[in-house]
Amino acid sequence: MAILITGGTGFIGVGLAHKLVARGEDVVLFDIAPRMERVADIRDGVKVVRGDLTIWPEVMNAIKDNNVTGIFHLGSMLSGPSEDNPWAAFQTNLTGTMHVLEAARLFEVGRFVFPSSIGTFGLNTGQTVTDETIQRPITFYGAGKLYVELLGRFYRRKFGLDFRCLRYPIVIGPGIKTRFSLHYSSLMIEYAALGRPYECTLAEDVVTPNLYVKDAIRAVETLYYAPREKIKTVCYNVSGVSPAGPARELEAAVKKLIPEARISYRPDPADMAYFQEYFRGIRIFDDRRAREEWGWQPHYTNYEKVAADFISEVKTRPEFYDLV
Ligand SMILES: NC(=O)c1ccc[n+]([C@@H]2O[C@H](COP(=O)([O-])OP(=O)(O)OC[C@H]3O[C@@H](n4cnc5c(N)ncnc54)[C@H](O)[C@@H]3O)[C@@H](O)[C@H]2O)c1
Repeated sequence: MAILITGGTGFIGVGLAHKLVARGEDVVLFDIAPRMERVADIRDGVKVVRGDLTIWPEVMNAIKDNNVTGIFHLGSMLSGPSEDNPWAAFQTNLTGTMHVLEAARLFEVGRFVFPSSIGTFGLNTGQTVTDETIQRPITFYGAGKLYVELLGRFYRRKFGLDFRCLRYPIVIGPGIKTRFSLHYSSLMIEYAALGRPYECTLAEDVVTPNLYVKDAIRAVETLYYAPREKIKTVCYNVSGVSPAGPARELEAAVKKLIPEARISYRPDPADMAYFQEYFRGIRIFDDRRAREEWGWQPHYTNYEKVAADFISEVKTRPEFYDLV
């Protein structure tokens, strides 16, 4: 019996893989571009399968050959690349997900966890978003994530798949590969920790609800292991720093730890326009249902805590994050 993580050597997947191995699980990582150096320390505990979500037999083989009983489906194109190439994102995020869901049905996989996104909200949300807020995404990425939320609910009702889903805000952490403007929080801390200047292409008063990567990993893990009877809402917001403060508040937290950090702002009109489309003033990402139903509790709840751990990770394990 094994647990499969698609996108298993990505930003969130690789941390999750380490946690599952520590729990004694047999873990299979499925990824189109596996980063083997990130699993060097757990090589005996994981099997790595190079494969493409868009090729259905490759997905089927990974599940059939490894007696998979649970899936974390993290493999995806993220928001920026999906906006730039919606055609490829359709194949990866929608067709690819359908392949994983169908393989899960055919091979009777029990549990299926999927990370959706704050990007599934959109038009007319107001400052606070709850699990009851109407989801009307305006990005290709957000529309795809919402479709999978609904598809998962269908598989749950029709075929009894134990589908569970959480919605992340922007996840902050070292070593992100998609260097996109919405990820300014990660880049601001990372550059400061590496002694490099950072010029933000968004304004200093922008606000993005966020979650530290260690909390993001713990959230998806906790949701997976929650007893079945606890899961009522099925798709849950999860939040870390909430209400989120503006970029300049993060800058102040970084400068408390690294006073010589060089951070500046030169708002780019295209980046600002995408930001406005994506967030529309959301400040509070209400995760009450996750807290009530399966005991979700973030550890990193303010920028000082996030920045302190982040900087320590960059300084002590730069090679793990590919930052040397
Ligand atoms: N990072 C965030 O801020 C954030 C926010 C909301 C939701 N999410 C979701 O969390 C999940 C994990 O995101 P992440 O931040 O770890 O991203 P990531 O880009 O680091 O990891 C995604 C992984 O998927 C793999 N992948 C991409 N296309 C593939 C394909 N066709 N076949 C097989 N593998 C493929 C990539 O190689 C990569 O390792 C994704 O579903 C993402 O949409 C992330």
